[in-house]
This record gives sequence, structure tokens and C-alpha cells, in this order.
Amino acid sequence: MNLPADFLFGAATSAYQIEGAVSADGRLPSIWDDFCRVPGAVAGGDTGDDACEHYHHWREDVALMRRLGLDAYRFSVAWPRVVPEGAGAVNGPGLDFYDRLVDALLDAGIRPFVTLYHWDLPSALQERGGWPARDTAAHFADYAAVVAARLGDRVTDWTTVNEPLCAAWIGHLEGRFAPGLRDLRQAVHAAHHLLLAHGLGAAAVRAHAAAPPSIGLVNNLSPIEPASDRAEDVQAATRADGHINRWWLDPAHGHGYPADMIEVYGVEPPVRAGDLETIAAPVEYDGVNYYFRQIVADDPAGPAPYFRQLPVTGAQVTAMGWEVHADGLAELLLRLSRDYGAARLYVTENGSAWDDKVGADGSVDDRDRIAYLEDHLAAVARAARDGAPVKGYFAWSLLDNFEWADGLDKRFGLVHVDYATQARTVKASGHRYAEIIRTHRHPPRGV
Ligand code: IFM
Repeated sequence: MNLPADFLFGAATSAYQIEGAVSADGRLPSIWDDFCRVPGAVAGGDTGDDACEHYHHWREDVALMRRLGLDAYRFSVAWPRVVPEGAGAVNGPGLDFYDRLVDALLDAGIRPFVTLYHWDLPSALQERGGWPARDTAAHFADYAAVVAARLGDRVTDWTTVNEPLCAAWIGHLEGRFAPGLRDLRQAVHAAHHLLLAHGLGAAAVRAHAAAPPSIGLVNNLSPIEPASDRAEDVQAATRADGHINRWWLDPAHGHGYPADMIEVYGVEPPVRAGDLETIAAPVEYDGVNYYFRQIVADDPAGPAPYFRQLPVTGAQVTAMGWEVHADGLAELLLRLSRDYGAARLYVTENGSAWDDKVGADGSVDDRDRIAYLEDHLAAVARAARDGAPVKGYFAWSLLDNFEWADGLDKRFGLVHVDYATQARTVKASGHRYAEIIRTHRHPPRGV
């Protein structure tokens, strides 16, 4: 695999999905703690109350990362641990946890990539209006300043917001994620305030981190194709691209919100003077989370933006029902560099859930996940060869974890977690990833 010599191989997780310990040391509830209590909201009635108990097993987890030979680890800080009410008092013990984690990572030679928001909004802020309320973005910046002031002497790599699409569209329009709303106007307002939080948060990190930071926004993107040549489907594909990709990338790159989508939604984002400049202030990288492409058809009777995703006949699909399509990752990386002039790219998440079978000896021979990993890394290498400035890849995920509305049943980890005992076992895919990393560092002679 022909990747740059300084390419970073990492793995990613997020706080609510792995930490557990939801009421330890002053943490207060987030919208996901609340959503998990809504009957029927999460498969199997699962919650993140315990998840991987990473809050107590973090030393072991850092040792695992070291065994895998990871260059970098992308994790998120839980806002409700650090500023439990969302605004106001800082919770020292919550911040101490991340301080110790960062030190342990650095001692292990692993570069920490810190995400400030991965969906766990403090419930107290939801009560004050959540993301549809403008103040939430200002509170986020205050929280970002606190984290940067504490960790920013050692952490240089920051993500402000992870996948604003999921927080805004799935959380406020489709209702499948916390806070479970189905309201287009609130969704458009939430989307704007999440992007504003990115801009304000980036400025706060710059102002408070002692070490010069590298900051980015992480979007989950999909290449979009029309289901047919019919004009209706082609137009639906344009709307889908607007909803999934352009709505986030355009304002972040200084092009403002796509006018066609404002018309489709029939809702103006609540932009005030200076907001678009704040959102588009230059950052160091674009983070791309990639899972699947979308083949879409017109859906005039559906809710705005009036398209539906169709299954791809004959395609291999993961346990999530997502098509395996590695070329889509190369396509996105090249699009970001070509159409948006991205100067540095990281694949901040990519991975797959499968129905893993645990052998009698505890081993997991997850060949589908190995093939997925190899094919997607090869796609990254192709994009790099063709000029995309991609500097790193973070496998989703280090550990099996709490997969949001799908609960604990869907497993994305390179490492298997037995939730009853909290035993960790490196899957065959984890061993293969370690081998890929070793070979990249020490290529066999003559290659
Ligand atoms: O588990 C999620 C993660 O939290 C955000 N990106 C997609 C992953 C798989 O669904």
C-alpha cells in the first residue's frame, strides 16, 4: 500500500459509546442518557451506562493500542463530565480523567486526537433549548476553552464537532437519535448552531491551547448517485447531495449555505452578521467519516428533502445493512481536494459491523472486516496517489461499543469486548491492522 511515509494509522472511539460510568465523579446526564430511557428508542433497551467501562479500563485500553502499534488515537471528551450543567461550573475530576488519558497516550507514543463534541449534549442545555438555541454554540465555545486550557499544552490535534449531520438531521428531523425530534425548522436551526459551534469552538481552542493546534470539522459524507436517468431521480440526487454533503461543506469552506437547499427546506438558517465568517475561518484539516454511498430516488410524498435511499442489488452489505463500496472513499477524498481545496485530510472514521462469531478460545476470525479494512486502505492509497492530501486513517472502532440507536448488538471493533466480563480480545482484523502498520513502517526489502 503506497501511502506517505508519515501517514498516521489510528483508531477512533467516542465518550458515550465506550466510557460507561455515567454518574461517576460528578458527570451529569446527556441527551443520550435521556434518549436511552425512551421506550423503543434504542434496540434491546440498551444504554451506554456501562458500555466498555473505559472510564475504569483506560490503562488496559491504552496498552492495547500500544500492542496494535497505533500512531494516533481519536477519542471524544464528554461535555457532561467536564461542564456537567453544560455552562458554568467546571468539574475537576472529569477533566482529570482526560488529563491522565492524554499523558498515558503520550507515554505510549500515541498521538491524541481530541474531539470536543460527539453528540453527548448535557441534558441541562437541552432543557434550555438544545442545539436549535443559539446560546448552545456559545456554551460550547466556553467548554472548548476549558478543555483546551487544560490539555492544549500536550494535545495538538482537535476536532470541534463530529458529524453535525447526525446531530442535526437524525436527531432533530428523523428523530432516530437524541434528542428524538421530528421538526424541519428546529433541525435547520440546530444545523446552523452546530456549525457556529465549530467556528466558535475552533477560535476558543486557538485562544487557549498552549501548543499551536491543528483543528478540523469532521463530516460523515456519502457519494450520491441517482437510481436512474429520469430527471426526477437526477434532481433527487442533487437534493441528497445538498442535504448530506454540500450543506456542511459549503459553509465550512466559505461558500455559504447552498441556496437550492434553503429553497427545498423552505426554512432559512438563522444566520446573524459574522456567522458565516466564523464558520469558514480557516482550519488545518477536513475530517472525513465514510461508511457508504447512497443511490437515491425521488420521493415526492416523503418529508423534505424528498429522496429515499435504495438498496443496491447484489451488493455486499454489513450488519448495519450498509453497502460495502470502497471506491466511494477515494471519490470523497478527491472531491474534497478538487472542489473544496482541502489542504489536509484525515479519514477520521471508517469501519464495519459484522455478526462476529466468537470461537471456543475467545478468538474472532472476522475476515469480512479484514477485507473491508484492506479495501478501504487501498482506496485511501489510490486517492493519495491521485493527489488527495490525505495524512491519516482512523479505524472505527478500536473497541466494540454502544452503537447508538442500534445498541450493543452491532459490533464495529478491531477488539472484541465481552460486555459481561469486560474482557478485551484482539480480533483477527486487529492483528491484521497491526501487521499493516508494522509493514508500512518497515517495508520488506526490495519493495
Ligand atoms: O458509531 C458511529 C460513530 O459514533 C459516528 N460515526 C458512525 C459510527 C458507526 O455508525
